[in-house]
Amino acid sequence: MMTIDLFPLPLPETGDAAKFTEFGREVKGLDPGALSAQEFEQVKEALYKHDVLLFRNVVLTPEQQYTLTKAFDPDSESYGHGNNKTGSDAKSILHPDLKTIPRVPQVQLIGNGTVYDHEGLAEARLKHPNHTTFHKTRVSPEDEAQGVTRFYRWHIDAALYDLSPPRVTTLYGITVPSGNRQTCRYDDGTGDELNVPLGTTAFVSGKTMFEILPAELKSLAVRSRVKYAPHPYVWMAPAHALSTGLGIESEGLELPLNELPPWEDAKIKILPVLWKNPVTQALHFQVHPCGAAELLVAPLPAGAKREGALYPDGGHIKDIKAVRDLLYKMQRPAIAPMLVYPHDWSEKDLVLFHNRGVLHTVVGAFSKDQVRAFHQCNLAASDDPVGPTTEDVEKWC
Ligand SMILES: [Fe+2]
Repeated sequence: MMTIDLFPLPLPETGDAAKFTEFGREVKGLDPGALSAQEFEQVKEALYKHDVLLFRNVVLTPEQQYTLTKAFDPDSESYGHGNNKTGSDAKSILHPDLKTIPRVPQVQLIGNGTVYDHEGLAEARLKHPNHTTFHKTRVSPEDEAQGVTRFYRWHIDAALYDLSPPRVTTLYGITVPSGNRQTCRYDDGTGDELNVPLGTTAFVSGKTMFEILPAELKSLAVRSRVKYAPHPYVWMAPAHALSTGLGIESEGLELPLNELPPWEDAKIKILPVLWKNPVTQALHFQVHPCGAAELLVAPLPAGAKREGALYPDGGHIKDIKAVRDLLYKMQRPAIAPMLVYPHDWSEKDLVLFHNRGVLHTVVGAFSKDQVRAFHQCNLAASDDPVGPTTEDVEKWC
């Protein structure tokens, strides 16, 4: 059988090559808009093995992008946050960032600046989200003028209420402005910073996030599930993020549950902390820290060593600050500069990422005249991700 050609992605100097051996591949010699069934099967397997796939010099219509995205989950239908961007979603923090392509509502136009006569949109005013409107603190305007920036918000593409997290997101760079590289500062007292291309999309591996944890946190992760807030993006809208973009400051600013749009218990998402990769069987630490509200911990399995174990008898952690502090302790190590892959966008790049295997974030800030136009597509999945097996729990406890 013919096999597709895969090449490692160029890792920046800051990256720890030993931690990226399986992460990211460029696919050459295939037209992602016209894959045969056999080619698609190989692309799919490569995506689950390598988490991020890059195709260069791609010409792709919104219809082709939708078809490609849907092929990963043929029973999926609507955009990852639902196709209806009006009504109760208007108060969501995601609302200003998304413009729907009228012909293909599952594909969103995202970017910066004003785009004219684009796929049926006469005029679209786009705004690249940046940390100054979301984080509790901000880089000073003087530093910003020198090119200092931050991670905006580490996340999984997912509604986290009612709908299931998409398996894959496709991101197609149509107009990519050139500009000076920027310095992404963590501003969390560690002194960590990362030199990044302007407007990079940064990725970290959820598999690495799990693998680098000490034994007691692995044991906790493998036994834990996250309960997300109802309508999490409306709930978190008044709150402010941490300087690393990896979660929310606990200031009590979240919208009270009785002030949210109507919601029901049955649609609240409770998802495992670790999601099982359907091809490699690896466990990926997949938590959207901003939307997390509670942690449900199962007791240690029979025969596990109790010494040093956290929550050996299980627990239900409802204190929001305790939930966030625990998650941060588990997730922060994996966004260290040496573990981040910042994609350096060229026009006509198509990036496919395993949305159930990585976390990603927007980075940087554009000026108003820097026009950027991307097409993004992901589809609410036909099922929820699968957590650790009984054997996984026994192994890691
Ligand atoms: Fe995203």
